Amino acid sequence: MTTIEDRRRERRADRDGFPHQAYPSGWFHIAWTQELSAGQVMPLHYFGRDLVLYRANSGEARVFDAACPHRGADLGRSGVVHGDDLACGNHGWCWNAQGRNVWIPRSERVETQMLLRRWPVREQSGLIFLWHDEAGGDPTWEPPIVPQAADPRYFPAYPEGAMKRTLDFPPHLVGENNADMAHLEFIHEWDRDHTLVTWEENGPHLHTKFSGTITTRRGKARVEVAGDSWGVGIVRAELDHLRSTVQMLCPIPVDRRTTDLRMSVWVARPPGGAPDAEPDALARSIYSAQIREVADLDAGKDGTIWANMIYVDRPPYAREEAKVFTSYRRWLTQFYAY
Ligand code: FES
Ligand SMILES: [Fe+2]
Repeated sequence: MTTIEDRRRERRADRDGFPHQAYPSGWFHIAWTQELSAGQVMPLHYFGRDLVLYRANSGEARVFDAACPHRGADLGRSGVVHGDDLACGNHGWCWNAQGRNVWIPRSERVETQMLLRRWPVREQSGLIFLWHDEAGGDPTWEPPIVPQAADPRYFPAYPEGAMKRTLDFPPHLVGENNADMAHLEFIHEWDRDHTLVTWEENGPHLHTKFSGTITTRRGKARVEVAGDSWGVGIVRAELDHLRSTVQMLCPIPVDRRTTDLRMSVWVARPPGGAPDAEPDALARSIYSAQIREVADLDAGKDGTIWANMIYVDRPPYAREEAKVFTSYRRWLTQFYAY
């Protein structure tokens, strides 16, 4: 008997229609600031590799390859922060901010030529980002700031508006939503009269705006969604429906088939509320609605579609959608080395 799992596996095999084999280049969200206190060490597995994230006592968040160059212990699981350095739990060799060996217990020498690979990191707006480049190159652009994260008129995204799920689909499907106007009607209950207002490509940044209406029991309400993508790993949507809301949707490849999706939602506080009040009922209902729209595999929304679709490299576009879709896929190729 063919089970749903079997069918999913077959569909995954079909996804080889995606024309790129490389992992995408760009910035990817790996943790929230508040998850990592000074001295804390966290094992990560992204881009098919074991990595270690730690926060030095100076406050800086750093990522290195996890395998200790001495005899290969996993620093994510055995590493300990010593002041500004990371010490391996196996034999105590110490690695500094640049990944250089700076101390070997009971030895008068250090192996200055021995280097742990350091990955570029940025931390801003309460989010920690990692730069990945297939050829190991340095960052060529910067991840965006989220102004609402520093705005006291918004609830902080972490912890209630923050969500992480490990999902069974590749990361590029998330950003393609920005170009997919026709699905707004069928997945997100917009009326048919929606239009594309803006399409602006600026290197790794793509800005779009859709406008339309949603019919509720109380009549038609105007909706606008401003979508911004920075590479494959950062997709931001600004919604102004019930209350001003900013959502960051950040997929990162775990391996060839699996994606970690982190969502951060900043919702405006109600006017006149105390500046340190907990998120109110409407904010909480927006958090759960956003999770349902994108990350819930059984809600019949984006997440359900993404987890079960195959990648059609040359779709038979309707004339009205062809330009936007082909523009999106052309823009996307810049993040894949091959
Ligand atoms: S394996 Fe890390 S110090 Fe020996
Ligand atoms: Fe969607």
